[in-house]
Amino acid sequence: MSYDVVVIGAGPGGYVCAIKAAQLGLKTAIVEKRATLGGTCLNVGCIPSKALLHASEVYAEASHGFDALGVTVGKPKLDLGKMMAHKQSVIDANTGGVAFLMKKNRIDSFTGSGKVLAAGKVEITAADGAKQVLETKNIVIATGSDVAGIPGVDVAFDEKVIVSSTGALALEKVPANMIVVGAGVIGSELGSVWSRLGAKVTIVEFLDKVLGPMDGEVSKQFQKLMEKQGVTYKLGAKVTGVKKSGKGATVTFEPVKGGKAETLAADVVLVAAGRRPYTEGLGLAEAGVVLDKQGRVEINDHWQSNVAGIYAIGDVVKGPMLAHKAEDEGVAVAEILAGQAGHVNFDVIPGVVYTQPEVASVGKTEEELKAAGIEYKVGKFGFNANGRARAMLHTDGFVKILACARTDRVLGGHILGFGAGEMIHEIAVLMEFGGSSEDLGRTCHAHPTMSEAVREAALATFAKPLHM
Ligand code: FAD
Ligand code: NAI
Repeated sequence: MSYDVVVIGAGPGGYVCAIKAAQLGLKTAIVEKRATLGGTCLNVGCIPSKALLHASEVYAEASHGFDALGVTVGKPKLDLGKMMAHKQSVIDANTGGVAFLMKKNRIDSFTGSGKVLAAGKVEITAADGAKQVLETKNIVIATGSDVAGIPGVDVAFDEKVIVSSTGALALEKVPANMIVVGAGVIGSELGSVWSRLGAKVTIVEFLDKVLGPMDGEVSKQFQKLMEKQGVTYKLGAKVTGVKKSGKGATVTFEPVKGGKAETLAADVVLVAAGRRPYTEGLGLAEAGVVLDKQGRVEINDHWQSNVAGIYAIGDVVKGPMLAHKAEDEGVAVAEILAGQAGHVNFDVIPGVVYTQPEVASVGKTEEELKAAGIEYKVGKFGFNANGRARAMLHTDGFVKILACARTDRVLGGHILGFGAGEMIHEIAVLMEFGGSSEDLGRTCHAHPTMSEAVREAALATFAKPLHM
């Protein structure tokens, strides 16, 4: 069999690359070793976590949020089995949707483990050991990432008591208490889920702030709101041991600045200390493909590895490990292979944490601008002064806009608040067009909307907000 492109890995990077390549007229195949398509994102990542985040948010709101609105309901009862069934039906609908899209776009989909024999040759090994080789002009490696564990610590995941995100998405009962290692994105989202469902959650984090790369002010306020919801943090604490103990497990950590170690016990320990690029079994060393120091496929500006005809995208290459970043790289590579100009603007990749309230960010943080010596202006507006937020009792959080002091060009936007993940995109579009805070502040916004707070923050950047 001979193709223009063979994509290895059917996550958001790989399957989107395959669709775009097929749309551009390239004969395309995709190889996936999981039984279902969609990768980490659809099977054990973005989609199932959002299903549980939404369901647990509704549960929490019904438990203590309806009363103030004049809606009296009895104490809600949790049916965890049904909640998990909801999650599974969302996964099935989405993975099935990707399989449909492969057929619709006439992409040949192979189930099995892909291995690069050399440029132009991909071997597929099916679950029963049967092998076949595809000939292709180009190979796109989109094999994603896997759980990293904790650097320097031996973690024996059993996915029941000591769990990664995968186990934390499938617990059979709500633990009385849970320790989370890492106050990053997974720790915050899945810690939130189990905390809302009734677990006492303690998050142990190496850094002295939560959500590491996020804007400092946002991160501080977010921590306070999570604490109000019942989450406990141990910051500046380096986890040095995670061990099974009786029916539960213990976590040992020591202050990063030095001092006495402490050990806490819990029913379940979620280790969410990062992910690593996944290249096992791909035969990259034999094919001569160079990896960087972090084990990612090294690529040039056109996502090409050091071997002609072998490209790589998504979590397995540099950049943020985000589904939409992988998708955009997939599109760009397909365009390049079709002779077009593929491009991704890495300065405008939004990041969203789907807690309640949500955290959303695009562009530079205040800390990054300071470190780069760029003079900037800040405009802020709190949701407590926004009519729609008051009407919905979602007044926590604020919008923060950072613009160049000289040109007023918007360099970053940060939102902590209900629906932040939707609102961030108007700042992203503005930044794509090189827009200024004045452009945003002079754009008419519908009333009453949460988005008016984004406009007010823009007004606060170049002039004065109207409602504060
Ligand atoms: P993946 O989605 O990892 O897909 C790679 C695929 O390649 C896998 O299906 C794998 O089985 C397959 N594969 C690997 N090796 C081979 C081989 N040799 N042969 C054949 N197939 C192979 N990102 C967001 O943007 N938003 C979110 O809300 C979000 N939530 C997340 C929640 C969790 C719990 C986790 C773990 C991650 C989340 N992410 C989120 C990150 C997101 O899932 C990844 O950034 C994204 O899936 C990366 O896409 P990818 O295509 O590069 O790789
Ligand atoms: P992360 O990098 O976001 O956070 C890991 C945290 O663990 C860091 O804050 C780090 O300081 C801490 N840590 C590391 N070693 C430690 C130790 N020994 N002791 C204490 N703390 C330690 O990684 P996470 O949460 O595992 O997520 C992995 C990837 O998945 C992220 O890159 C993220 O982009 C992606 N993801 C994205 C989501 C989204 O976009 N909403 C949701 C979930 C995951």
